[in-house]
Amino acid sequence: MKKINLKDLKITAQNEIKKVSNLNDLDVVFKKYLGKKGKISQVFRSLKKSSSTEKAKIGKELNEFKSVFKKEINQRTTYFNKILKDKKKKERIDITRPGKKPSLGSLHPLTLVRRKTEEIFQNLGFSVVGGSEIENEWYNFDALNIPSDHPARDLWDTFWIDTKEQKLLLRTHTSPVQIHYMENNNPPLRIIVPGRCFRYEATDASHDIQFYQVEGLMVDKEVSVANFKAIIQEFFRQFFGKPVEIRLRPSYFPFTEPSFEVDMTCLNCGGKGCSACSQTGWMEMMGAGMVHPNVYKACGLNPKMWQGFAFGMGLDRLAMMKYKINDIRLFYGSDLRFLKQF
Ligand code: PHE
Repeated sequence: MKKINLKDLKITAQNEIKKVSNLNDLDVVFKKYLGKKGKISQVFRSLKKSSSTEKAKIGKELNEFKSVFKKEINQRTTYFNKILKDKKKKERIDITRPGKKPSLGSLHPLTLVRRKTEEIFQNLGFSVVGGSEIENEWYNFDALNIPSDHPARDLWDTFWIDTKEQKLLLRTHTSPVQIHYMENNNPPLRIIVPGRCFRYEATDASHDIQFYQVEGLMVDKEVSVANFKAIIQEFFRQFFGKPVEIRLRPSYFPFTEPSFEVDMTCLNCGGKGCSACSQTGWMEMMGAGMVHPNVYKACGLNPKMWQGFAFGMGLDRLAMMKYKINDIRLFYGSDLRFLKQF
């Protein structure tokens, strides 16, 4: 019988087991040694012809080898199975899991307030009119009875745009649209004009270099201050969902006579005084007055035939009162933590 070196066989078998990197190859090694025609089985078979002492000696050694070999194969099998299991765990697709919710944006508080304002005034018979954010001096000042040497121009610190042909500026209020509209439309008329305005001034909790106004203009044969008060009170009642206290203070605007300022109880502090209302308990909501005769003249209308009121209301301030926001600058900061609340 060919002498088999069991020692060498053990070493090669162990090395082969170590080298294997997956279950399939491990099976190949298993069969190579323990399969029907495997090396260990062959040695067993060859023992048949040996003497009984040899049988006993080699048989014992062979059995030991066999059990060590099996043990090692088992260890590797457990190891590979664990790797496969872990991999599967990681790749597991849970088809019952709910899908990702697309995050929906929301409307800016100023948009919400503008839309509500438009809705209420439309129900009161006003049309919504647009205007341009860039104006020339005539529309922003002269036609509104503010000539270049008039001290009232100082009230409206302005961003000028340098052009060779004419002096352009970012409008400081929505009042220029009064002129544009009356140039092209005859009374009776009722309009509101929501839009952005700009002023070159220091910012604080209630002032910013940009802000929104809603201009209002109602002209007919017999429109009075009483009509103005009634309409504004009705607007506030609908806008805030309850009657709010307002007061009219005498004021001055070159394009209205008489002029007044309209304040409402500061809803942010309930009238106690806070940073939003400069500790006064009142929030200044709009400038207003009866349209000045010179304004009608600038638009080619006869001041003896028409009378009416105009107002310029702060849309940001409306939003501040409605949502109890104490700093106007939050509207323009693009901070999502703020904006997502609306
Ligand atoms: N345009 C004025 C301002 O911005 C407000 C105003 C509008 C006053 C209409 C009277 C009439 O302060």
